[in-house]
Amino acid sequence: MAGNVVFGVGGLIIGAAAVFAYTHFAAAPEMAAPEVAPAETMATAAVTPDQNYMLRNSAMKAIAGHMKALGAVAKGEATADAGTVVHAQGLNSLAQTVPLLFDVEAIPEKSRAKAEIWSDWAGFQKASDDFAAATQTVIAAAESGDPAQLGAALGEVGKTCGGCHKPFRAPEQ
Ligand code: HEC
Repeated sequence: MAGNVVFGVGGLIIGAAAVFAYTHFAAAPEMAAPEVAPAETMATAAVTPDQNYMLRNSAMKAIAGHMKALGAVAKGEATADAGTVVHAQGLNSLAQTVPLLFDVEAIPEKSRAKAEIWSDWAGFQKASDDFAAATQTVIAAAESGDPAQLGAALGEVGKTCGGCHKPFRAPEQ
């Protein structure tokens, strides 16, 4: 029941956004398309800075968790199995959400995010892309089940974590 209500509200919001987009562009066809779609603005506007921090911190911890599980196989502390491939896929999927996590500029008290993320968004986006690309190789390595191949792929991913943390993450408080 509650699910249906939420679904209904979501439909209304999307519907309202579509009407807004239509009337907006019909009234001013010469205007350039806005950078952020109306529906996206509504979705992110409801997230407070603290919630935003919690979401990105949880995602980063999940990324680190996948790395740890894969690292155990690379080091021979665990045997490769179907779960190894799932961790690799999870890592790759989450890697692609990193720019979304920092969509809204928010640096609440606990956050280690640096203002440079938003002042150099292209650089941040590039660091995210490098990370996502490196995680792609991990999937093939996990499928091979070869610890050495997995270790090499994880080493490349590790460099891209540092490639973003160094310029964009502040020291631990
Ligand atoms: C494109 C940038 C980027 C990439 C790539 C990235 N991170 Fe992060 N990470 C950040 C930022 C920025 C923060 C701080 C977020 C905050 O506190 O608001 C962070 C926070 C974290 C945290 C939370 C702990 C803390 O307080 O800092 C962990 C754990 C973490 N990252 C692990 C990783 C690992 C492991 C990788 C690679 C497998 C990785 N990250 C890749 C940008 C990145």
